[in-house]
Amino acid sequence: MLGVAGGIAAYKACHLVREFSEHGADVTVVPTPNALKFVGAATFEALSGNPVATDVFTGVDEVRHVRVGQESDLVVIAPATADLIARLAAGRADDLLTASVLVATCPVVVAPAMHTEMWLNPATRDNVATLRRRGITVLDPASGRLTGPDSGPGRLLEPAQIAELARTAAARGGLSRPLEGTTVLISAGGTREGLDPVRYLGNRSSGRQGFALAEVAGQLGARVELVAGATDALPTPANTTVTRIESTAELKAAVDERAPRADVVIMAAAVSDFRPASVAGAKMKKGSEAEAGLETLQMAENPDILRGVVAARESGALGGDTVIVGFAAETGDEDADALEYGRRKLLKKGCDVILCNEVGQGRAFGTPDNAGWLLTAPEGATDPADVTVREVPRGSKQEIAAEILAEVVRIRHADNSALQD
Ligand code: CTP
Repeated sequence: MLGVAGGIAAYKACHLVREFSEHGADVTVVPTPNALKFVGAATFEALSGNPVATDVFTGVDEVRHVRVGQESDLVVIAPATADLIARLAAGRADDLLTASVLVATCPVVVAPAMHTEMWLNPATRDNVATLRRRGITVLDPASGRLTGPDSGPGRLLEPAQIAELARTAAARGGLSRPLEGTTVLISAGGTREGLDPVRYLGNRSSGRQGFALAEVAGQLGARVELVAGATDALPTPANTTVTRIESTAELKAAVDERAPRADVVIMAAAVSDFRPASVAGAKMKKGSEAEAGLETLQMAENPDILRGVVAARESGALGGDTVIVGFAAETGDEDADALEYGRRKLLKKGCDVILCNEVGQGRAFGTPDNAGWLLTAPEGATDPADVTVREVPRGSKQEIAAEILAEVVRIRHADNSALQD
């Protein structure tokens, strides 16, 4: 069931119907009467293939307000206005949408959209807290351009983000906020090493896994610092500040500067291990001396940023309980398989968690989903055979992100309970 409240962002609900239908869902749209002032019932009926009603007096013989709510596997409300959130918090049932939510026993996901002042108003804060306490997933809105000239938190998340977060929430029975009050530093995308002012050496990373991590971490309550190299065009996640970098040197500087303030550091960027030893100041012309030299390109080794962060924690430059996560994108070869390389990498890098996945042949890079193994090392492990392996089933990059962050939360709680002991 897709609930739509009366806000200017109601038109985005049309895209959301598509997002869910294309994933095989049978969508019933339940707008408030005011939502129909923005988008006509005919549009929702045509897109969903199901009839649309707003009040409990339509189809009384079918007891509609009970049926739609009871039969749904997932209720998503987007956009949710301040007024709708207030009515939900009060337990009202004065239209078909609020009545349906009251009878729904499935996960309910609310995507708010309103002016910043309304979102930050203590009345709305209290209502949101009430809904969250009751187990409803209220997503934090994006920050950005609102209806008027104003800008700030309150913008409806993009339909693809809402659909993905709703699926992730549904699969986990809702999203709580265990990272409230923490800062999570995430690197994403590929680095580019300049050859001259117009050319670079890069890689195929899309940045989607790093952005998905930021999306989920932001919704788990964290303040996210996202340092991004080259990526696909991706919307900024909620509660996230994005810093753009190009080269490994810029990435290292950005990560090293932010890591001491972070509670969690996740290196999802695809970092170039080497860079051209020298960068031409002007474009290398065909047949020029500089280009002739390209037959054998001299490379210099880049620093390992992840190992640097681990070393900083060991030296006391970071908080001792900073949780550090890395990735291992492996193909495997005649020497060892991908998982074995992942185990070795966890011990070599010294981080707390590694998400190891097999790449190549269209896997992982640029694809919407992923699969792999979550690797953790028991205290003092030196043998790859001692590494703990948990299989992460194929899922969207957000679902993988949710698995990784659940592990981070487990580690943080284990640390805290050790302190309490
Ligand atoms: N990484 C890093 N700095 C580098 C290279 C990699 O911080 N110079 C990080 C990546 O962001 C990732 C992890 O280290 O989290 C593993 O990256 P990967 O390229 O798989 O590992 P390498 O150390 O390059 O090992 P190898 O090339 O031998 O597989």
